[in-house]
Amino acid sequence: MSKNLYAVFGNPIAHSRSPEIHNLFARQENIEIIYERRLVSGRLSISLQQFEQDGGLGANVTVPCKEEAFDICCELSERAKLAGAVNTLIKLPQGWRGDNTDGVGLVMDLQNKNALHSTDKVLILGAGGATRGVIAPLQQSGAKIFIHNRTMEKAENLAKIFSCDAISATELNNQVFDLIINGTSASLNGQLPQIPEQVLAQAKFVYDMMYSNDLTHFLHFAQQLGCNNTFDGLGMLVNQAAVSYSLWRGFMPNTEEVLNHLRKSN
Ligand code: ATR
Repeated sequence: MSKNLYAVFGNPIAHSRSPEIHNLFARQENIEIIYERRLVSGRLSISLQQFEQDGGLGANVTVPCKEEAFDICCELSERAKLAGAVNTLIKLPQGWRGDNTDGVGLVMDLQNKNALHSTDKVLILGAGGATRGVIAPLQQSGAKIFIHNRTMEKAENLAKIFSCDAISATELNNQVFDLIINGTSASLNGQLPQIPEQVLAQAKFVYDMMYSNDLTHFLHFAQQLGCNNTFDGLGMLVNQAAVSYSLWRGFMPNTEEVLNHLRKSN
């Protein structure tokens, strides 16, 4: 009998909340799963070989392995190709199929919060892998996307790929956005991405793709400026996980129930 083995791969991985989330999904489906954290200390492909031998059916992939996961798949979804990265692996007889549920997870979370509308102007801060993974799904919602990055050239490269706008610090000054999303890794080093204070202060919604038990630096800063509608990335995490789970098992979990549980158990 199959033991329903799943895992999340990354480095570091000890902090990952994915096992807790997927076990709550399994409880909703009324089945038993094993969901492990697997530390990738060398190449992801080596860790995955072991996982295959153990009977692994599917996996999530997190930092810094999403690009390597993209390279080793024998099949890729369209959204994984656009993201240039894979966060979900599905076992096929001939190898791994790669998908990327980060962007759709973000959009689902924003829509659940009524924070994304088809006529919105959305500013994303950062032009790394995290931003690249979410642009196309945000565009599919109808929103108009602007990218601002410390290194302007990287914002311009992404803008070219996705036919959206790169916006410089000076151009930012006269703009008002419905939603501002922090997709930079600045808070990992306790830093804030630079953005004119009045631009952040005027946004209807402010979202940080990062999450932590305490308020992130970015959201703290936004709240100090008077923003009332601020959200961290825990909802994105739960929603991307739910889409991964549905790809593996054909069962779409109720994410609100799981989010409430996680917020209470912080
Ligand atoms: P990820 O996969 O998390 O996106 P990444 O590809 O290394 O990681 O990209 C990190 C992003 O955060 C980049 O856009 C980076 O800006 P640069 O392109 O100028 O390096 C941004 N970033 C990191 N630290 C930052 C800081 N202190 N202020 C502003 N932006 C920062």
